[in-house]
Amino acid sequence: MPVLTNITTAYTCRAPGGQGSVHPIEDAALVWDDQAIEWIGPERDLPDAYADAETIDAGGRIVVPGLVDSHTHLAFGGWRAGEFEMRIRGISYTEIARQGGGIRSTMEATRAAGEHELLARCKSFLRQMTTLGVTAVECKSGYGLNVKDELKTLRAYRRLRDEMPHTVVPTFLGAHLVPPEFEDDRSGYVDLLTEELIPRVATDNLAAFCDAFVEETAFTPDEARSIFEAATAHGLQPKLHADQLSDSGGGALAAEVGAASADHLEYVSDQSITAMADAEVVAGSLPLATLYLDEEPLPARRLIEAGVPVAVATDFNPGTAPSYHLPVAMTLGCTMQRMTPAEVLKGTTLYAAQSIGRADKLGSLEPGKRADFVVVDAPSLNHWLYHLRANAAVATFIGGTPVWSADGFNG
Ligand code: NIG
Ligand code: FE
Repeated sequence: MPVLTNITTAYTCRAPGGQGSVHPIEDAALVWDDQAIEWIGPERDLPDAYADAETIDAGGRIVVPGLVDSHTHLAFGGWRAGEFEMRIRGISYTEIARQGGGIRSTMEATRAAGEHELLARCKSFLRQMTTLGVTAVECKSGYGLNVKDELKTLRAYRRLRDEMPHTVVPTFLGAHLVPPEFEDDRSGYVDLLTEELIPRVATDNLAAFCDAFVEETAFTPDEARSIFEAATAHGLQPKLHADQLSDSGGGALAAEVGAASADHLEYVSDQSITAMADAEVVAGSLPLATLYLDEEPLPARRLIEAGVPVAVATDFNPGTAPSYHLPVAMTLGCTMQRMTPAEVLKGTTLYAAQSIGRADKLGSLEPGKRADFVVVDAPSLNHWLYHLRANAAVATFIGGTPVWSADGFNG
């Protein structure tokens, strides 16, 4: 039963009070047993029962819940650095997609990659993410776009979950793009998703969520409706890529279909915001994608004022967000989205966990929750997100076990 002591501030991120309430405890101690948190509070109040427990010294640093990256496209073949330059030269993301680049080019590279290769790449990304404090990750398929390669991607995620200590939550994103084989038969592809792939993904228990990219270049709201109807009937909860490049009513659709989250939302309308608040849909903000596509950020202030919880994630993918650096996304959440550091932290912990259906076990430091936490070498939360460094995390614990620590961390 170890005790982490000498924590300058523990940001517990408990639910009450909404987005900006992170419920800090100063001069804190944290106790866990087996894999769950048993006690947290001011160190001077540490119960006598823990007096003889093994202690780990946090060194006067801050501690936050393990970060949850609630939106990634972790498994993909190849990269798309060429498109990066094309966009800099003024060719838009949509135009590149129309020319056969974008998602389609990653589809080709992903189809060419074996399951083992995808798994090895995911592991290598996830190891790097661990050093930044990430302890849980949502990961989407969506670059296979046929039965064989979508299932291959989801099987790679299952092995990732089995072979790594992290919480890995897979999402089926067969509705990422209509693949070239179905260019003249869109409804044929929707039928493949609803009649073959979704039932198969559900039977094999390969995903918890079903996502769809609702956009002019991808799927219409009506196509998405039929996909979500099939998903829901098979026990997969909807999630959406919504209103990223234009307002297609994606936020309202998310509310209508009972989605766990609607993500992107750069162009979300006031009507959609109201619908999301009423239906308790989490807004997934993805500031790295906003940055790389040079879009206006999502209206975080309007969402928060309307009572919509705002999560912050990387959207790590080879096109619009080629980085898994969640702390950088957090700082961008502050500067671009005008969220306070506390609001951003709640968005990468409790609300991120809520958006992947894991808030019962993850996302806050309180008794009963999984002992996932990060020791960060900063004097305060504000200072951490203000002073951008390669990495401020010094130790990452998952289920009470240190899975990574920096040289010099004496825990
Ligand atoms: O979240 N918007 C759709 N999907 C991804 C991008 C995928 C890609 O460009 O490869 C996103 O931005
Ligand atoms: Fe995405």
